[in-house]
Amino acid sequence: MDIFRIEGPVRLSGTVNVNGSKNASLPIMAAAILAAGKSVIKSVPYLSDISVFGQLLCQLGCELDRSPNGDLCIDSDVIDNPIGEYDIVRRMRASICILGPVLARYGRVEVSMPGGCAIGDRPVDIHLRGLAELGAKIHLKNGNIVAEAPRGGLKGKDIFMGGPFGSTVLGTANVLMAATLAKGKTVIESAACEPEISDLANCLNKMGAKITGIGSPRLIIEGVKQLQPVEYQVIPDRIEAGTFMVAAAITSGKLHIQNCRLDDMMAVVDRLRNIGVTVEAAEGGCVVTRKGSIKPADITTQPHPGFPTDLQAQFMALLSLAKGNSIVIEKVFPDRFMHIAELNRMAANLRKEGPTVIVAGVKKLIAAPVMASDLRASAALVLAGMVAQGTTVVNRVYHIDRGYERIEERLNLVGAKISRVAEAS
Ligand code: EPU
Repeated sequence: MDIFRIEGPVRLSGTVNVNGSKNASLPIMAAAILAAGKSVIKSVPYLSDISVFGQLLCQLGCELDRSPNGDLCIDSDVIDNPIGEYDIVRRMRASICILGPVLARYGRVEVSMPGGCAIGDRPVDIHLRGLAELGAKIHLKNGNIVAEAPRGGLKGKDIFMGGPFGSTVLGTANVLMAATLAKGKTVIESAACEPEISDLANCLNKMGAKITGIGSPRLIIEGVKQLQPVEYQVIPDRIEAGTFMVAAAITSGKLHIQNCRLDDMMAVVDRLRNIGVTVEAAEGGCVVTRKGSIKPADITTQPHPGFPTDLQAQFMALLSLAKGNSIVIEKVFPDRFMHIAELNRMAANLRKEGPTVIVAGVKKLIAAPVMASDLRASAALVLAGMVAQGTTVVNRVYHIDRGYERIEERLNLVGAKISRVAEAS
């Protein structure tokens, strides 16, 4: 298992390029299942989550290949084993998004029921309810979800997909994909509005689907008989872009962040500007600069267009150094706070009260050995490590490799001092 040794404090300066979005790539890879033949997906990042999802598609019967220019080719001519095994699903929850497309294409699907994870319980009841509304018969067998389409195929319907925490991203993806091949019209009300869902819908339309209302909470889908393979470029990763923005801000640095769509990040940019960070639109992205002190802020995570839960941990690291007290409320995953104890080990002053965290600003962070617990929590520790005094050691960096490609090399190019070391076992 690798660890990071991070020397701090540093001040970042230069240009970083944002990769294609992990969370757009995964459902778009799943969408390739819907059309027999070879789809080509561009800008898919090289991440362990993408490789694991690729293995899952191969188990179903697909063939995958990376062309020399990095395009991901998925040949889904044959789907002959419609089963998502526990072995893969336990490694990556996003495996659940094969449910809708395999059901629609093959008429039957079996996927291991995902368990809880470091960020909470994460049920899939709304995914199942939505598919059942389209006519699927669903039951649980030996820990696997089994879904079967009725004899005449899935049927379009008006479906409400809101839940106790608002909309569901992958739930919307599942029902949306299934509905493209259902008979008649489906309306998904309270659909997730995340840019990754819009990207999926745009990709599906390029495959021949008929989806309107893209980007809104009401998606309208006219079912079609079949879809065609596609060549499609995924959007830039807004969470990686946001992490780089915080990297510039926390180190009092200046980063030109390229391949970043500010339009998808208005809540994040708003918070940054409010706490005294300059964000200026620039060719292909933006320039983020921090000169003065960080002002405290109130942040509440919400489904898009609200402030994203996937940047909560990184902002908590930043607000740890604010002049005053901040409040962070997590309304999407109320237990997503594994980073608090680790940041406190670095002399932050964070106190959790239910889904709320009081962040009392401190003058400086101090290096410590810390443990990465999940993807975004580990990003927060890397950010904190770059400004902490001394050498921070982040254990279990495989979590960060799930969602950020060679993060240490890219940050080192703009002034970070991070080395990856294989930990002696
Ligand atoms: N929920 C239910 N029932 C369901 C589904 C969800 O109650 O059937 C609840 C969840 O427990 C949570 C809320 O609804 O409280 C939102 O969960 P959602 O379903 O939207 O999450 P997801 O689709 O499983 C995706 C991203 C996450 C991101 C969330 C929220 C992918 C692969 N994953 O997960 O990304 O945090 O949306 O934006 O797209 C990450 O990249 O680090 C990550 C965790």
